[in-house]
Amino acid sequence: MPKFYLTTPIFYINDIPHVGHAYTMIAASVTARYHTLLGDDVFFLTGTDENSQKTLAKATELGKDPAAFTDEMAMKWSTAWAALGITPNRFIRTTENEHRHTVAELLKTINDTGDIYKGKYDGLYCIGCEEFKNEKDLLANSVCPLHLIPCQQISEENYFFRLSKYRDILIRYIKEHEEFIKPDIRRNEALGFLRQDLKDISISRPNKRWGIPLPFDKSHVVYVWFDALMNYITGAGYKSDSFQKLWPPDLQFIGKDILKFHVIIWPAILLSLKMKLPKTIFAHGFFTIAGQKISKSLGNVINPISIAQKYGATALTYYLLSGIPFGGDGDFDERALIERYNSDLANTYGNAIQRIAGLSTQRGIMLPSTYKDFLTVIAHNKPYQSAMDSLQFSAAIEYTQNLLAGVNQVINKEAPWKLTNRERLAFLLHNWAAQLSDASYLLEPFIGEKAQKARSILTGTIPTESIFPKIEAA
Ligand code: MSP
Repeated sequence: MPKFYLTTPIFYINDIPHVGHAYTMIAASVTARYHTLLGDDVFFLTGTDENSQKTLAKATELGKDPAAFTDEMAMKWSTAWAALGITPNRFIRTTENEHRHTVAELLKTINDTGDIYKGKYDGLYCIGCEEFKNEKDLLANSVCPLHLIPCQQISEENYFFRLSKYRDILIRYIKEHEEFIKPDIRRNEALGFLRQDLKDISISRPNKRWGIPLPFDKSHVVYVWFDALMNYITGAGYKSDSFQKLWPPDLQFIGKDILKFHVIIWPAILLSLKMKLPKTIFAHGFFTIAGQKISKSLGNVINPISIAQKYGATALTYYLLSGIPFGGDGDFDERALIERYNSDLANTYGNAIQRIAGLSTQRGIMLPSTYKDFLTVIAHNKPYQSAMDSLQFSAAIEYTQNLLAGVNQVINKEAPWKLTNRERLAFLLHNWAAQLSDASYLLEPFIGEKAQKARSILTGTIPTESIFPKIEAA
């Protein structure tokens, strides 16, 4: 069984998940289901990024003990994913002992190779991005364009990582490995970063109360991004026997906002550790709400759990991945979600199943007890397979919808409910049921167990029911 190691970013816990965070998780969950159906041994990792200074700031603001606060928030994030039907194999928290020990060990190795040195950092830092900034990337008065807060002026003794040493190796690697950074627009962006002067980066902060101490100087804590990126190593069980089998990641999903960290710093860490680089890092686009950035201060944050409670997690998954080509940006619109669900799932798919299964019961015609399996189905639907393999979810959905529209067209043309010739009716019903079973497989990565239920209806194992009841718009 080939392994498939899949990761998402680990999320900051100073707030609860919004629909943008859910987008990454949903894409990963759909990919995990697809690879499971292909027969791969999937390992799906996600978690929470807890050592950020933001965690401490938020706990202090709420008057809570930081450790208790992290427990409470990590629980909120993991239960949110469970509520959306997302089931990662491992949920890592960067405050776990295992992670802390692994990070210390990896840092020691990097230090031993001579890639870490002590220096002085004079410059700016955005606590929102948790990033050292250049004045040229900021607005007037050193305001961060993403967080709209002024950066802190920092002047401190720091440890630095020799990032510059890996510039030419990275350029060559990215050029030689077309699949390494996807989509191509992000690959070009990465090459663009590397064409500029690549400076060594500061990887520690002195005298902080929160974070993982450097193993060779306990008066410093590790810069949070350096620790967070290493979660992909710890989460795969660095110390366990299965690690060699899992490494490297096959696919790492990130949002386009954190590209630089993942395509420059992360591979450089791995090169320094002499570890293999991930096969593909895919940066998806960003969701806005009514054209605006999702932000608490704008008051437009949408909680994915409320959406799932109202319409079901399947409706949310299907909507987020159907309209916008994965990689591009999109706008979240609840009415569009309802329309998409009603037209594709309730009408085109759900109704067809109910009509065919209903008619077969009514006329006492047994439907087949087995149909083609997933691998046979996708072998007959190559455009679907190549869309899924290249993470073009919307194209895979569109392909399936066209197939279903074709089935519905023939059903309407043949008007089987009027047919009196039993043999002909049985022939047609079997044919349509087989096509609907195929479509259920193609939809399964997106709709999960509802597709299995559809197939049980189509084999007559369970009675006909409406799998996708129509949503009445509020
Ligand atoms: N903790 C870091 C990641 C460390 S990974 C080693 C971080 N966390 S985050 O919580 O701010 O956001 C993580 C991810 O959430 C983004 O990269 C992106 O995948 C997703 N999104 C956050 N807002 C989003 C949208 N508005 N739209 C789409 N994805 C969004 O950065």
